[in-house]
Amino acid sequence: MLHAGNGVGTTGIDVRLAGPKDAHGIARCFSEAYGASYPNPWATDPALLSMRVEEERSIFAVALERGVVVGATALEPRADGTGDLCHAAVLPSHRRLGLFSLMNAPLVEKARGLALSALFGRCVTSHPFSQRAMASLGSSFTGLSLSVAPRSMRFLGIQEDLTQREACFDSVLLLESRPCSTRVHVPPDVRFAVSHTYAELGVRCEFERRAIDAPRFRISSELDRDLGIATVRFASRGPRPARTLDEELSRLETEGAEALFAELPLASPATAGAVEALRDRGFSFAAVLPGRGEGRSDALRLQRPLRDVTPDVVAADLPGLDTLRLLVFQDRAAVTGMPAEQLS
Ligand SMILES: CC(C)(COP(=O)(O)OP(=O)(O)OC[C@H]1O[C@@H](n2cnc3c(N)ncnc32)[C@H](O)[C@@H]1OP(=O)(O)O)[C@@H](O)C(=O)NCCC(=O)NCCS
Repeated sequence: MLHAGNGVGTTGIDVRLAGPKDAHGIARCFSEAYGASYPNPWATDPALLSMRVEEERSIFAVALERGVVVGATALEPRADGTGDLCHAAVLPSHRRLGLFSLMNAPLVEKARGLALSALFGRCVTSHPFSQRAMASLGSSFTGLSLSVAPRSMRFLGIQEDLTQREACFDSVLLLESRPCSTRVHVPPDVRFAVSHTYAELGVRCEFERRAIDAPRFRISSELDRDLGIATVRFASRGPRPARTLDEELSRLETEGAEALFAELPLASPATAGAVEALRDRGFSFAAVLPGRGEGRSDALRLQRPLRDVTPDVVAADLPGLDTLRLLVFQDRAAVTGMPAEQLS
């Protein structure tokens, strides 16, 4: 257990990994930080939360003052060998004491114990505090995903109402070393954004410029009804899809997706052509996700929000994030044919 005694006002606060018995305290903390607006209903339901903690689907770290949970945040391991740092809440009375940053430490240690290759975070853009906490952990920012969370979300004590669906910067903390250069297959339109992103990771990006025959991709998709988003994944292997790409995209919209994402393996020669096909369908650059592509390769994420988010609601006050924001919005403008100034 860590004793958070180093910062002003944190004496007497303990930080440790949570067990199922902490579920009531964690649920209360989420209710006080978000009201009834948290998109995942299990986070405010002690019985469901306890089950999730027991099964290690969500591994929580908690900050406790005299046994009362005053902050909580989670690690969720994924089948692809990476994990998510997610579901953060600190009581308004205990904010700005460094608790969020402190709670992430045991989760990173746990992730190393599980041999995860990278930890991803979605840092909200209605305020920049979680971006700063992720940066202080050593994370890099490799994308900006627009429209990923519902507009109904409320960050009590910071922002009561959102004017649009929430956009999030994608952060990544690499837990294993990687080669200093990588070869990727993307069309010219997104090369600048991709190489800027790899540079943030200290990786030099080489573009394959020859056309190489590649087997056609198989697609599979996942609809997250809590967040109202859908992801279509492209891979060279997998069951034969029941629908064409266009049929799948319209099905996902009909079933309630308010933002569509596509994830493609950057190392595959078939990706360049697939990106062009997706751009014709309104998808633009969102992120590079190390280790999230087929066979643990890196993935390119493209995005198509149903309603465009405007840059003025995307708060960023870290060096480098302004460039990322600009690249993402410029590419949205290029794909939608809308002048960039109309997006602001
Ligand atoms: C986001 C949240 C979890 C941060 O928790 P916290 O314990 O207050 O954060 P920390 O004290 O560890 O601070 C993290 C960084 O944000 C800064 N920060 C936090 N609150 C701040 C505030 N109100 N004003 C200015 N800076 C602030 C800190 O100075 C720190 O930056 P630094 O490392 O550059 O000094 C908390 O504000 C919260 O629960 N918000 C409501 C829910 C939410 O926004 N969740 C989104 C998570 S993606």
